[in-house]
Amino acid sequence: MADVVLNEVTKTFPGGTTAVNHVSLAVEDGEFVVLVGPSGCGKSTVLRIIAGLEDATSGTVSIGGRVVNDLPPKERDIAMVFQNYALYPHMTVDENLSFSLRIAHRAKENIRAQVGETARVLGLEELLHRKPAALSGGQRQRVAMGRAIVRQPQVFLMDEPLSNLDAKLRVAMRGELTRLHQRYGTTTLYVTHDQTEAMTLGDRIAVLDSGRLQQVGPPEELYAAPCNIFVAGFIGSPAMNLARVRVDADNGLVLVVGDHRWPVPAAVLTARPAVRGYAGREIVLGLRPTAFGLPAGPDANGALLTVDAVTVESLGTEKNVILAPPIVGEARIDVTHRTETVGDVGVGEMWTARLPATARVRTGERVTLSVDLAGAYFFDPDTTAALPVAEAVLAAA
Ligand SMILES: Nc1ncnc2c1ncn2[C@@H]1O[C@H](COP(=O)(O)OP(=O)(O)OP(=O)(O)O)[C@@H](O)[C@H]1O
Ligand SMILES: [Mg+2]
Repeated sequence: MADVVLNEVTKTFPGGTTAVNHVSLAVEDGEFVVLVGPSGCGKSTVLRIIAGLEDATSGTVSIGGRVVNDLPPKERDIAMVFQNYALYPHMTVDENLSFSLRIAHRAKENIRAQVGETARVLGLEELLHRKPAALSGGQRQRVAMGRAIVRQPQVFLMDEPLSNLDAKLRVAMRGELTRLHQRYGTTTLYVTHDQTEAMTLGDRIAVLDSGRLQQVGPPEELYAAPCNIFVAGFIGSPAMNLARVRVDADNGLVLVVGDHRWPVPAAVLTARPAVRGYAGREIVLGLRPTAFGLPAGPDANGALLTVDAVTVESLGTEKNVILAPPIVGEARIDVTHRTETVGDVGVGEMWTARLPATARVRTGERVTLSVDLAGAYFFDPDTTAALPVAEAVLAAA
């Protein structure tokens, strides 16, 4: 096994597109790192550079402490699983699994043992004599995975390997991937669009936007302390509600959210003292869907939001309530694909509140919700960076 270290890796394609921009990332030996980001942000290019299918324009890639930039793919001891995996259609499952070992001229007994073990781990024993055409999608996916693990490589690179499967199979395969990782502990870099996959599979998640690495950390850390607006909007489902709002100094600080005026609680100022510096200016406020609740009573104090419920989606144990935009106007900038300026964030955008299943909220009705500002996030509208949390508060957490 081996670690994988990218040092200042940049890839500019001949046409001039910089797909990967000064990316430095260290995947530890045995670690499972998930790479996420919007379409076109450079995820596949990163994997292809590590695999040696693409040359880095600059920077170095090391595997197990050795710089591999000039090493051909087959000498890197890596196995890659693609979204559109191709099995050899004329070969049986057995032959598909053993193919790479046969061309490497491994001993017959050795091949039998490896294929037998892989088939057992992946539950493919009954299917060894079938051809791919006679397999279900999930079974084919398992064969593709089996072809990667049968070689026992130092590193797995997986590029959205489950995206062709239906929801139920994805969940099953996700469990299987976790078990495989526990069993073999192979260093893995895994690309996905799927929030749940990223949160459940990754020891750490690396968030990429426009070829630049935004933040790398354990799933809980990215969720609790996103470093900027992009990561805040990208990690978490339903996504964080974001709005550029005015901070008024009016007998304490007040957030002006559309028609609403919310006093900033003392706890917020203790946790994020930098908020004070925004008095008389604008700030970007972030609220997770879980920050909303039902007010305790008609005299409830604290922040309240009164808007129309546009849609109510029942999820069984909870419900997502899609709210009419608290700040009206035309939305001009899509925040999730911007890292530099944030423009009119939240203007004209609907918000989502997650409420208990018992909450009596119906589509089309006007609702009043309580807003837990103590759990709010704050970002600078110019740099998009999260306001720092006070040292004392971090130390107590
Ligand atoms: N061979 C190539 N020549 C020129 N540009 C390329 C090439 N391959 C990729 N690109 C460009 O590089 C950028 C990153 O592409 P990449 O495939 O790495 O994105 P991705 O994050 O994997 O996207 P997706 O989620 O859609 O798979 C894109 O703008 C893409 O158009
Ligand atoms: Mg891709």
